[in-house]
Amino acid sequence: MNDSPIGIFDSGVGGTSIWKEIQGLMPFEDTIYLADSKNAPYGEKSEGDILTLSIKNTDLLLDMGCKMVVVACNTATTNAIDFLRHHYDVPFIGIEPAIKPAALQSKSKTVGILATRGTLSSRLFHSTSENHASGIRIVEREGSGLVPLIEKGELASDEIKALLYTFLKPMLAEGIDYLVLGCTHYPYLIPVLKEIVPETVQIIDSGEAVARQTKAILIKNGLLNGNGQKGKHVFYGNSNTKTLEKFLNDVPVDVRVSYLDF
Ligand code: DGL
Repeated sequence: MNDSPIGIFDSGVGGTSIWKEIQGLMPFEDTIYLADSKNAPYGEKSEGDILTLSIKNTDLLLDMGCKMVVVACNTATTNAIDFLRHHYDVPFIGIEPAIKPAALQSKSKTVGILATRGTLSSRLFHSTSENHASGIRIVEREGSGLVPLIEKGELASDEIKALLYTFLKPMLAEGIDYLVLGCTHYPYLIPVLKEIVPETVQIIDSGEAVARQTKAILIKNGLLNGNGQKGKHVFYGNSNTKTLEKFLNDVPVDVRVSYLDF
C-alpha cells in the first residue's frame, strides 16, 4: 500500500479526460495534475522539445512525491515514454491511439485516426500501426489547430467545426467505420464530432483503457492507496487556469485548481 498521489501531466486541459476515468475507477487515490498549457500544443514541437518538457513535468511530479506518473498525452507518450521508463524508478503509464481495438473490430477494414503531428510522426505510433493493424487501411489526419482552440475553451465554435469538417471529409470518403481519437484533448469534441460523422462510424479513444492499466500497475506494484479515504485532487496550470476550471466544473468530487509557474 502507498498513500502518495498519482502524478498526471498533459500539455494542457486534454488530460483531464484521462483524470476523470482514473478518478472514477479509483476514488480513493489522491492525484496531482500538471497542465503545461504555457507550452501547448506539444504536437507541433520537435521530438527533443517534447522530451525536454516531459522530463520537466516528471521531475516536478516526483518532487511533489508522486508514486507513479501517467503521461496523459499521446504526443508526450509516443515521443518520450521509452526515455522516461529507462531513466526513472517509478512506473509510467502512457496513452497511445486505440488502433488495435479499432483494427480488430473494423468491418470496412478502414480506420480513421485524428492525432497531432507529433504523434503521427513518432516511431512508436508507426510500430504500433505496423504490429496491430496489418490488413487495415489507416487514414491519418493531423488535427492541427484543434488543441489551441480547445485550450481557449472552444468546443463547438464555427472554427472548430470548420476544421473538423476539413479533417474528416476525406476519411469518410475513404469509408472509415472507426474514428480513433489520438489526442486526449479530442474526447471533448465528441458532441460536435457526432454532428459530423454518421452513426455507423464508431468514435473511440483510449481513456478508459488507460485508467484500467493504471489500476492494474498500481496493484501489481503494491502501490494502491490503502487509507480508505476519498481522494484529494490538486491541479496546477501554468497559464490561464480558467479553462482548466471550466473543464472540471462537472466533476463529482472537490478539486483544487491553482496557478503554478513551471
Ligand atoms: N493532449 C495532447 C495529446 O494527447 C495534446 C498534444 C498537444 O498539445 O498538441 O496528444
